[in-house]
Amino acid sequence: SPAHHFSSSSLSHHSLPIQPFIIGVSGGTASGKTTVCDMIIQQLHDHRVILVNQDSFYRGLTPDELKRVHEYNFDHPDAFDTEQMLECVGKLISGQSVQVPVYDFKIHQRSSENFRQVNASDVIILEGILVFHDQEVRDLMNMKIFVDADADVRLARRIRRDTVERGRDINSVLEQYAKFVKPAFDDFVLPSKKYADVIIPRGGDNHVAIDLIVQHIRTKLGQHDLCKIYPNIFVIQSTFQI
Ligand code: CTP
Repeated sequence: SPAHHFSSSSLSHHSLPIQPFIIGVSGGTASGKTTVCDMIIQQLHDHRVILVNQDSFYRGLTPDELKRVHEYNFDHPDAFDTEQMLECVGKLISGQSVQVPVYDFKIHQRSSENFRQVNASDVIILEGILVFHDQEVRDLMNMKIFVDADADVRLARRIRRDTVERGRDINSVLEQYAKFVKPAFDDFVLPSKKYADVIIPRGGDNHVAIDLIVQHIRTKLGQHDLCKIYPNIFVIQSTFQI
């Protein structure tokens, strides 16, 4: 019967695993990206959400680079192993679990024995200053969020964070900011803002923006859930539309 024909053809199509919803969260240093991600994760507690930080894919420094660490540009796209990040996210999208490297900002190296085991999930958040820089990475994203904060607010937060958490002294923070962080923000981060679907002013303080974003993600996930329960209905509908 025609009905049977619809269901068998639709089953082969829809029995493929449903792809996770991928969110990119970018913005300048200390703009509040982590806070925004944490708030999204908290509000989506009834879904499987995982966070992948671009920081995890910082290349470890060679002994020579380490000797002259004050000349190293951590804000340039080449500081990251983007190929490895793509491979990692690709595996997560195809439903495999992955071992994400653990990066130590105090020694500018990855841990040689520690990895973070990340399992496949419904939502993957990719967070980092340059996650919108590479087109291949951008193309994976279903939604791109740029977290905005004034430069003085970001610098103030950065000084506090780097001296308290990342083992730096205030002079080295200010020097690095003027020499590398600010120029790279102007050259690479700010130009990638144009790819954003949503720009959040005032970062993690903006509860209204986060609520709106979470509602949108829920709608998208809800559509997927319906597809899982009633795969045939959706295919029959689209067949009629054609
Ligand atoms: N960085 C550094 N030393 C390293 C590696 C990175 O100082 N060995 C700095 C880079 O200069 C870059 C910053 O780390 O500017 C990237 O981290 P950032 O985006 O500031 O931190 P998040 O916690 O991801 O962001 P947010 O504060 O927005 O939550």
